[in-house]
Amino acid sequence: MIKVIFALFLAFQQITCSGYLELYFQSEFHLKATVNITSCSTTAPPTLIPLMISSNETVKMHKVPMKMDGSEYQITIFVINQDRLDIDNATITTSFVPKNGQISPLTVMFPFTGIRMRVGCDEQWHGEKCDVFCCSETASRVGKVCNSHGQLGCPQGKRGLDCALPISKKWCKCQNNGACISSFGKNLHEKMQCECQLGFRGSHCEERVDNIEMKSTYGVDPKKFEIATAKMLYESVVDNELVEVKRERTGGHFLQNLRINDQ
Ligand SMILES: *[C@@H]1O[C@H](CO)[C@@H](O)[C@H](O)[C@H]1NC(C)=O
Ligand SMILES: *[C@@H]1O[C@H](CO)[C@@H](O)[C@H](O)[C@H]1NC(C)=O
Ligand SMILES: *[C@@H]1O[C@H](CO)[C@@H](O)[C@H](O)[C@H]1NC(C)=O
Repeated sequence: MIKVIFALFLAFQQITCSGYLELYFQSEFHLKATVNITSCSTTAPPTLIPLMISSNETVKMHKVPMKMDGSEYQITIFVINQDRLDIDNATITTSFVPKNGQISPLTVMFPFTGIRMRVGCDEQWHGEKCDVFCCSETASRVGKVCNSHGQLGCPQGKRGLDCALPISKKWCKCQNNGACISSFGKNLHEKMQCECQLGFRGSHCEERVDNIEMKSTYGVDPKKFEIATAKMLYESVVDNELVEVKRERTGGHFLQNLRINDQ
């Protein structure tokens, strides 16, 4: 048994990493959009994805592979609103370094009511950079699971080489509802570690993961532009209906993030 597990660990050491971005959108309007995903660290052409968004339906965009090696990505969502012709277009931009467990913006603006930007690891990959490989099938053959750290561990609540002993939460002192789990290191030494809820990190889940920030710019024709439209745009900030972790929003966010392009 011990030999088997040790051999597995050797097989687990790999260098490549593998993750993806998944986008979800929600709006009260019918929208025609193009999503442009550009990696800032390569000269590869951007990924352009056309999307039709029907009102009040959550639209999910297929997964786009992402490099998780610290490269920055720029994402631009260009939108034509087919229901509000007084605003010609909207451009929503963000740039970030993708990390597993990142959370979506807390607020969104016209014409959206929800945007989820889900960064995840491909199957069998784990860790913030999706660079820790652990094969769940092989793990289950030795009565273990791959935990969120990409280490062999016991199913939640259990510990011991045979995963037959109970775990006491007190051993880990995890904050923010983190779970105390078992994790077998290379020498089969078992450690108790925290497995954090989405939105938290750190060895005791004591740190908040930052949310992604987005900026909106509107293209409006000055001839059609009215005070009522400007007021509507300024007041269109809403709590993101698709955010994974609800938090109170910080003030002043939308004014900084609004620019009307009317020349
Ligand atoms: C979408 O939802 C909003 C708010 O609930 C509502 O005002 C609007 O009429 C809905 N649109 C459609 C096409 O159902
Ligand atoms: C996509 O975004 C990149 C980076 O912002 C930009 O240089 C490029 O022109 C855009 N491509 C299209 C087709 O909009
Ligand atoms: C967006 O709208 C503005 C204002 O009407 C216009 O000048 C601009 O060309 C539009 N952008 C695109 C890409 O259509």
